[in-house]
Amino acid sequence: MYYQEEIVEEVRARSNIVDIISGYVRLQRRGANYFGLCPFHNEKTPSFSVSPSKQMYYCFGCGAGGNAITFLMEYEQYSFPEALQVLAERAGIQLPQEELTDEKRQQFNEKARLLAVHKDAATYYYYQLRGKRGEPGYRYFQSRGLTDETIRKFGLGFAAPGSNHLYQYLKQKGYTDLELKESGLVRIEERGASDRFWNRVIFPIMDVQNRVIGFGGRVMGDGTPKYLNSQETKIFDKSRNLYGLNEARKSREPYLLVCEGYMDVIALHQAGFTNAVASLGTAFTAQHGLLMKRYTSEVILTFDSDSAGQQAAIRAMPILREAGLSVKVLNMKPYKDPDEFIRNMGADAYRKRIEEAENGFLFELSVLKLQYSFEDPDQKTAFFHRAAQELLRFSDEMERTNYIEAVSREYGIDFQNLKRKVNELGNLGYTPRTERKTEYAPKKTERESAAQKAQRMLLAWMAEKPSLYGKLKDIVGPSDFTDAICRKTAEYLYEQLAHGQPNPAGIMDHFVNEEESFKQVAKIFYTKIRDDLTREEQNRSFRETVLCVKRNSLEEARKQAQDVAQMQELMKAQASLKNLNISLD
Ligand code: GTP
Ligand code: MN
Repeated sequence: MYYQEEIVEEVRARSNIVDIISGYVRLQRRGANYFGLCPFHNEKTPSFSVSPSKQMYYCFGCGAGGNAITFLMEYEQYSFPEALQVLAERAGIQLPQEELTDEKRQQFNEKARLLAVHKDAATYYYYQLRGKRGEPGYRYFQSRGLTDETIRKFGLGFAAPGSNHLYQYLKQKGYTDLELKESGLVRIEERGASDRFWNRVIFPIMDVQNRVIGFGGRVMGDGTPKYLNSQETKIFDKSRNLYGLNEARKSREPYLLVCEGYMDVIALHQAGFTNAVASLGTAFTAQHGLLMKRYTSEVILTFDSDSAGQQAAIRAMPILREAGLSVKVLNMKPYKDPDEFIRNMGADAYRKRIEEAENGFLFELSVLKLQYSFEDPDQKTAFFHRAAQELLRFSDEMERTNYIEAVSREYGIDFQNLKRKVNELGNLGYTPRTERKTEYAPKKTERESAAQKAQRMLLAWMAEKPSLYGKLKDIVGPSDFTDAICRKTAEYLYEQLAHGQPNPAGIMDHFVNEEESFKQVAKIFYTKIRDDLTREEQNRSFRETVLCVKRNSLEEARKQAQDVAQMQELMKAQASLKNLNISLD
C-alpha cells in the first residue's frame, strides 16, 4: 500500500510524538523539550530528547533521530505502512484503500511480499508435516519428545525430499520467480528451480510480532550440515532477532533464559519455561542485548556445558552487560544442554538450577581459574593478581567490596589482602582485561567538514526563523547545499517556506525508508543554535555561516567548470562575496 503525501502528513500532524514515545520511554519535561533514557542505546543519564514543537526526537548520545513514524519503525521494527496504520488508528483516521503507482507500491511492498512468501511457506511446511510425506519428520519430533501442542505452538514443519515442491506450491500461489529468489527459499538457475530445504524438519523463525522471517532446517539424524538456516534477506537480520522471543516476551518471569539452540528453546517452553530464547546460530551482538533489554533487565545464560558453550558464554557476557543486562550462568552438568537436562532430570531439577545460577562475574573467574594450578604457589599468586585486576571493573565502591568479599570466600583468600591488592592495581592504572567495549552507536560517519557543518547550521537557522527565508532565497538556493542530504532537505524546506511555515517532521517523511539519511536529517534540525551570544556576535556568526556555504558552493562549481568564461563568472561571484551584507534582523 502506498499512501499519498497528504495523508501521511495528516496522520503525523494529528499524532503527538510526546504521547507516542511516552508509551515506551519515561520522559521528563526540561524547558521546551522532553528528555529520557535513549531506547536505542544503553545509557544511565538521559540524552534522548523529544521536541513537541518540531515533533521529532534525537539522541545526543547515539545519533538516533526522526519523527513519530520512524520511531515506531525503529522501535517496533514496523514497516512504513505498518507504522502509519498504527498512528492512524490512534488518531482515529481512516486510511484510504486505493492502490497507487506501481513503482512506489513496489518499493513499499517488497517487504510485505517477502513476509507473505514466508507465511505461505510456513503454512506449506506445517501441513507437509501432518501429511503422509511428513511422517519421517513427525516421527523425528516425537523421538525428541515433542508433543502435538508444542509442534503447533512453534509451527514446526517438514520439507520433503525432492527438489522443488515448495517452489511449485508458491508459484501456484502467484509469486514471481524474482520474489521467490529474493526470499532465499528457492534457488533459480538455468536448469530450473530448486528448494533450499529438503528432507529436513523445519523450524520457522518469527520476529516479535509473530511474523515468519526465516527458517531453520535440521537433518533427521546424522548428516551435515546439521542445521541449515535461511540466509539473511531484507526481512531476516540474524543479529536483530532471537528465536522464541515472540513467546518469551509475554512471560511474566522477570528474566530471560538464553540458550544456544532451537531445540533447547522448544524443550524449555514445553517444560513450562516460556521465557527461553536463543540466537539464530550466530554469536550474540549488541543489538541482541538491546532487544532483550526492552523486555527484561536480567538474563540467565544456559549455554552448552562443553568448553565451546562456556567460551560462547564468556564472549556473550560483556556484550549483554554493556546493554545494561545483569547476567547469570546456569550449570547443566553433567548434561550437555537444556534439552538433554530436562529430558533426563525434569523441569523441577532445572528450576532448581535456575535458583542456583551463578553470578556472571564469578562464573568468568571460575573459567579463568582453569588456566591456573593452585598447587603451584606462583600460579596461585598469578591468579589472585588477575582476579584483583578483573575486580577493577566495578567502579561502584560498595559493589566492588561485595565482589571482593565473594571472591575471597570462594577462593579462600584473605579479604583485606585482596582488597589491598585491588586498590594497589587501581592506583597503578591497571584496567580489567576481559571487559571489552562493544560498539553500539551506529558507526560515526566520516568527519564532517566545515562546509557540511555550515550547511547544517544554515538549515537549522531557517527552520527556527522562517523570516530568514525572504533574505536568503536570492543569495543561497538549495543547489548551494553540496552535501546530498542537506541539499534534499533544503529543497523541501525552501518549498515549505515559500508557501508557509517550516515543518521538519514533514520533511522527515521523505527519508523514512533510508535509515542513515533520516538520522542525518534529524541531526540537522537538532543543530543547536547558540543563544548565549550577543546580538552582534550572532549576526557575525550567521553571516559567516552564509559565506561559508556560498564559498564552498562556488568552489565546487569551479572544480566542475566547463570553460574559461564560466570560470571567470564564478571567480567574479567569489570576489563579490566580501561585500555580502546580511544579518539576522
Ligand atoms: P540438537 O542436536 O537438535 O539438539 O540441536 P542443538 O541445538 O543441541 O545443536 P547445537 O548445540 O549443535 O547447535 C546450537 C545451534 O547452533 C543450533 O540451534 C543452530 O542454530 C546452530 N547450528 C548447529 N549446527 C549448525 C550447522 O551445522 N550449521 C548452522 N548454520 N548452524 C548450526
Ligand atoms: Mn541439543
